[in-house]
Amino acid sequence: MNKADLIVGLQWGDEGKGKIVDHMAQTHDMVCRFAGGHNAGHTIVVEDKTYALHLIPSGVLNPKATNVVGNGVVISPVDFIEEMSQFDDLNGRLFISDKAHLLLPYHAQIDQARERMKGDKAIGTTGKGIGPAYGDKIARVGHRVGELQDTEKLASKIVEYFEQNRAIFEVMGVDIPSKISLIDELNEYRDVLAPHITDTTLLVWKSLKDGKKILLEGAQGTMLDIDHGTYPYVTSSTTVSAGASSGLGLNHKDIGKVTGIAKAYCTRVGNGPFPSEDFGDGGDKLRDRGHEYGTTTGRPRRCGWFDAVAMRHAVRINGVDQVSLMKLDVLDGFDEVKVCVAYEVDGKEIDYVPYDMQDAKPIYKSFEGWERTEGAREFDQLPDSAKSYIEALEDMIDAKIGIISTSPQREDTIIR
Ligand code: IMP
Repeated sequence: MNKADLIVGLQWGDEGKGKIVDHMAQTHDMVCRFAGGHNAGHTIVVEDKTYALHLIPSGVLNPKATNVVGNGVVISPVDFIEEMSQFDDLNGRLFISDKAHLLLPYHAQIDQARERMKGDKAIGTTGKGIGPAYGDKIARVGHRVGELQDTEKLASKIVEYFEQNRAIFEVMGVDIPSKISLIDELNEYRDVLAPHITDTTLLVWKSLKDGKKILLEGAQGTMLDIDHGTYPYVTSSTTVSAGASSGLGLNHKDIGKVTGIAKAYCTRVGNGPFPSEDFGDGGDKLRDRGHEYGTTTGRPRRCGWFDAVAMRHAVRINGVDQVSLMKLDVLDGFDEVKVCVAYEVDGKEIDYVPYDMQDAKPIYKSFEGWERTEGAREFDQLPDSAKSYIEALEDMIDAKIGIISTSPQREDTIIR
């Protein structure tokens, strides 16, 4: 039976999924997003033109590919429409699930208000409204894209929701819209989005049946997963491979090869545990060399060393067939490269991800550094110490590293 290929992030997001997904999108007939919202993001440069993608799948740059935004995604119509405006003709090649939930402007206001109220306990969200939109979905008070069919009825439901929560919204400083202005706003969304709204589950099923090559594009990373990440410092969706099934309406047998994306070191944006974070010169050098600043928010990323314990957890949870190791060249020129091989928790050494990672102290193994891997396209072109580093990682994480990226350029990729 024909199966879909899946790409997932294995760390805290920003692993460099974009480079691999963009490349694979050229050879697939359909590219599907299954979780997250416009908190995700990457930029693609094609013939001197830069495109910013947050919600639209990367297949949009392959004119032959169909792009699907599945039911597991939360969609901000304003942002989606702005993103659509970068492309000429999306009719017939961009589809949104009628079951995806709407992320409306008040969700972002609630997100930001909650973060303000948490003070130094803030999650450090992107402020886009992701948590409140998924919260409404789970609490069964959300609104689905399919409801745009009857904007008057949808506006009445939203007004009712505001009435029920008026006291809370007033404290939070959330604007309460009038029904008239809501209807106008929803009509604008409907006019642009209607030709793209459909039952995407049926569409994906049919494509699988017809033998089409399908790519499932994950967002964020395993350690930000709502269940398997560093809760509560996580995003509000299922970022791991299981999310690809529920977020599109596939069963696990529909999913074939799973490629997990990981950087050769580690980064995280926002607050929360990060045992192998380097607060010294090493971290600064990684940030500087790796241009580690958020694409969606511009925030400097926290930087540190490859965490083999968290990676083993991610490999197992996602059923990874091969790892794609990104940004190896960022480690060029370090005398010593460190890997977190275990944690110390309450004076005890452990080799698994504990219930609360906050108190986990890293236990490192050091590797000899190397001069240059940048631009290498064959494994044999790598310095011996870089080869030893990669082979040691494979042993530690129980997975094959099948792809190694040695610069942002598409061609500077080693396929083993
Ligand atoms: P939210 O998804 O905006 O609610 O943010 C929750 C946490 O996930 C914060 O730590 C964010 O920095 C992080 N996060 C969300 N999206 C991304 C992403 O695309 N890359 C990296 N971190 C992200």
